[in-house]
Amino acid sequence: MRPATAEAPANIALIKYWGARDLDSALPANPSISMTLSSCLSRCTCEPLDGAEDRVEFRGADGRLAPADEAFAARVRRHLDRLRARTGAGVRCRIRTENTFPAGAGMASSASGFCALALAFGAAVEGRPTPPRELSIRARLSGSGSATRSALGGYVEWPGDEGDADCPARALFDAEHWDLRDVVAVVQTEPKSVSSLDGHRRAATSPYFERRLAELPARLDAVREALAARDFAALAPTVEEEAIDLHLIALSSRPPVFYWKPSTLAVLERVRRLRDEGVDAAATMDAGANVHVLCTAASEEAVAAALVRVEGVSRVLRDRVGAGPRLVEDEVA
Ligand code: PMV
Repeated sequence: MRPATAEAPANIALIKYWGARDLDSALPANPSISMTLSSCLSRCTCEPLDGAEDRVEFRGADGRLAPADEAFAARVRRHLDRLRARTGAGVRCRIRTENTFPAGAGMASSASGFCALALAFGAAVEGRPTPPRELSIRARLSGSGSATRSALGGYVEWPGDEGDADCPARALFDAEHWDLRDVVAVVQTEPKSVSSLDGHRRAATSPYFERRLAELPARLDAVREALAARDFAALAPTVEEEAIDLHLIALSSRPPVFYWKPSTLAVLERVRRLRDEGVDAAATMDAGANVHVLCTAASEEAVAAALVRVEGVSRVLRDRVGAGPRLVEDEVA
């Protein structure tokens, strides 16, 4: 066994995972579809140790690699315990992890972080890359459902149904199929008030949750078809409707979960106007206030230029569809 380093990307959901049938195992209540990103990455080095305890280090906002805070270290240890159980490898590890996207930019790093950890662990203890299907299953063992989708590149579907007990995600289209961009309007940099774990837990208390589940098959079809046909005009309204539906479920949960900031609405309004002006742009939000604006390559400049001018937007990050996780040589040091 020897140290291994992996890079894995974040992803942005077009159809969201929101609510679980088994939260501890991150088995979702509904299928989801995402676009894997390219430059919002986590990098993780897994170094097998002789000792009796895992060590977890994280590169913080100050740029220094330091022991991770207890909450994060406990999540990593729990994931490692599950990876050890699945692979039969009992070894303890030193984990060093960092994100390429700026700390405090309001980008969720659990999907990329846990997927990178699963890939680095497999390479370190088994001496080979983990195939995508198995990597997807191992990433989900972290408890972060969206990590399941970060195991594959391009456009990804996580069926999430009971047909396959292991519940892996699968590729819909590779990154070359359609060069979509993601321009993120950052309006919130501090951590969100309610974790996605709590949001999932509360989702089924919304009186609209069953209605959402009933509407999703048609919405999933619409997104699959729009992606297949590279039809932005068909994709945009469905993606926005879906993002708003997640937040409607959150707002109507008991107790309610309120993620938006006033500038979230300002960005949504600006995106609507951009579309009226003929610019390809579609807004989506995860469990937070920041707005991911999907757009075509031809529209990216116009979208980015418009978003930086919206009041309350502290910065704009630009990314695009990407090829998925990989092993790399450079260790996190
Ligand atoms: O990955 P989790 O278990 O933290 O859930 C995240 C869910 C959303 O980001 C809000 C939606 C999604 O499908 O990514």
